Amino acid sequence: MPLQIEEAEKRAAELRALLNRYAYAYYALDSPEVDDEVYDALLKELSQIESDFPQLVSADSPTQKVGGEIRKEFPPVVHRFPMLSLLNAYSTEELVDFDKRIGKLLTEETGGEGLFTPDWDYAVEAKVDGLAVSVSYVRGAFARGVTRGDGTTGEDVSHNIMTIRSLPLRLSREIDIEVRGEVFYALGAFKALNERLEAAGEKTFANPRNAAAGTVRQQDSSVAASRPLDLFIYAIVEPLKYGLSTQIECYSFLRELGMRTNPKTAYCKTILGAVTTLEKWRVERESFDFPVDGAVVKVNQLALWDRLGKTAKAPRAMVAYKWAAESVTTRLTGVEFGISRNGVLTPVAILSPVLLQGSTVSRASLHNLDEIERLDLRIGDTVRLEKGGDVIPKVVEVETALRLENAERVKPPEKCPSCGGGLARDEGAHNMRCLNRECPGVLAEQIGYIASRGCLDVEGLGEKISRRLVELGFVKGLADLYTLKDKREELVAVEGFADVSVGKLIEQIERTKTLPLERWIMALGIPGVGQAAAKELAERFMRLDALAEASEADIAGIYGFGGITAKSIVDWFKDDLNGELLTRLADAGVSPMPPSRPAGVAGHFAGKTIVLTGSIEGASREELRSFFAANGAKVTDSVSKATSLVIVGEKAGSKLEKALKLGVETMDSGGLARFLRENQAKMFFPEDLRSVDYFRRILDEL
Ligand code: IVH
Repeated sequence: MPLQIEEAEKRAAELRALLNRYAYAYYALDSPEVDDEVYDALLKELSQIESDFPQLVSADSPTQKVGGEIRKEFPPVVHRFPMLSLLNAYSTEELVDFDKRIGKLLTEETGGEGLFTPDWDYAVEAKVDGLAVSVSYVRGAFARGVTRGDGTTGEDVSHNIMTIRSLPLRLSREIDIEVRGEVFYALGAFKALNERLEAAGEKTFANPRNAAAGTVRQQDSSVAASRPLDLFIYAIVEPLKYGLSTQIECYSFLRELGMRTNPKTAYCKTILGAVTTLEKWRVERESFDFPVDGAVVKVNQLALWDRLGKTAKAPRAMVAYKWAAESVTTRLTGVEFGISRNGVLTPVAILSPVLLQGSTVSRASLHNLDEIERLDLRIGDTVRLEKGGDVIPKVVEVETALRLENAERVKPPEKCPSCGGGLARDEGAHNMRCLNRECPGVLAEQIGYIASRGCLDVEGLGEKISRRLVELGFVKGLADLYTLKDKREELVAVEGFADVSVGKLIEQIERTKTLPLERWIMALGIPGVGQAAAKELAERFMRLDALAEASEADIAGIYGFGGITAKSIVDWFKDDLNGELLTRLADAGVSPMPPSRPAGVAGHFAGKTIVLTGSIEGASREELRSFFAANGAKVTDSVSKATSLVIVGEKAGSKLEKALKLGVETMDSGGLARFLRENQAKMFFPEDLRSVDYFRRILDEL
């Protein structure tokens, strides 16, 4: 039975209020109050009332989102403030430059005399790949939605923008406001849309951005209404008018008004914090449900935006960061086999030269034989290249559709490409290894490695020179580097070696004798020991001979070291040839400098025996144990009279009882935190523990 108009009006108002509330909870707060079916049923009821009583339809009724309006053209609208674009940054260096430029601009502005530079921090947001729009509200009611257009003039596409579910037609406050954001197609929805279009025999969209742009420019708004377009609002025009002072505050304000903001947003105190966030998102972005084409790093303080000004194209207070993952295709013309410093056969792809991220690439790593098999690589294949995190490009896939018939498989050599000696397959893996322990190719690689930056950093001892020194017989083992000074004249006589460069090289090599122990540990090239491990080992053992005598248990007991690395280290020192090398190095006068801050020696807890019991929030038993050990304590498992201190965590058991009985000093978790905080300066926080929540809190990094 149809309602009376008075009842209908009352019910319509009720329904609108409810629907608005549910939409707000769903889109702005991201915490739905009711199921979709309930929402749909209420919406249906409202639209029934509105069709029975057309005089009750209001412009901001949620029913207006179902579309139906047809606009033949989209009137041009001149933006009150132009919609600019952004400058790009492609690397950490460029971000750091961006930060420096801001500091410089702000300091210059104070005349360079002031002792104070205004402080600033950053808001970082994922950059959504869609279509920029400007949306205005008048006294809290949706008034207009306009595309970016050429930045100065856009098109009025209100009829489509207002169908976007996450955009409220009425704000929680009756204010005039213009906001800006990005209309986009969620990835899941995009896939479904294309499937539907394909099934209907219609043209599909190449990517989510095209789908969003194509939908926003539909004449019939019921098309947009039928598609799940979405919109993140990222900016307020003239934000200072609303008493806002930071970008982060803008987000809360926008959400309070009922708008949806980007869920991938972070506050970062410094540009390095932003770098860390971007590094995290580099991997995580694969799982974002919206299309991402970078991230935007914005100065958080809105008052600084005007002061920093803008270029013709973009504001200076922000920058768009793009992750490097560009790829190109080219032809594989051959595969060369080399030998690594570990004696493993290493295939290198020889490519038809191609430009990738600013440099010409004609060789790429293929890692190992397994990789060739995985790619099923054939000569003449069209391959896709990528530059990963490092600069060395790699072959990521083969475009098999382009493969020529009878293309030849890549076959590994039967003999070592360097010494011509025999090769053997590695157990379990498909690697091949040169059997010659004195292979000159391997030796040249080893020299190149120990002379490299992170190791001994010997200027003038690059790959080429290393190779020549080996080929000419000057160096038959690493220790021979230190005998070069006795062969100075012979060397100078060799073509290509000038007096000056030989002198410098010898000087550089002499300099390495007393380099820090951690660099020397790196230089040994023990499998599994990188820079961090080398540093840790240096701090723990202080001397090379002490490390050489360490047992697997000694090493595995260090926080962060697994049994495999421990075994690898012990095996390395057990090897006769390596032992001989160490003796020869010592005879030549190599005497690495011990670290100045030894771990576990004369630390703050030196001479103390500590027992841990119960759990402490934010740190594992292992991590705490490692911390105390690094500060000189002996950490044991049971309480006795010899115990100096018992650290009592949550749910402590019999150890606490025993400590109390024996009168051993105890410290609870609060006391410990206070103590560590107060004595921070005297404590040693190993690098790997600095990222553990508990220690971050102590160090005030949380
Ligand atoms: S701030 C001056 N924040 O990227 C422009 N833009 O390349 C201020 N975009 O046209 C833009 N996500 O539509 C900003 N979180 C975000 C963004 C974002 C996507 C788009 C924006 C702009 C384009 C610039």
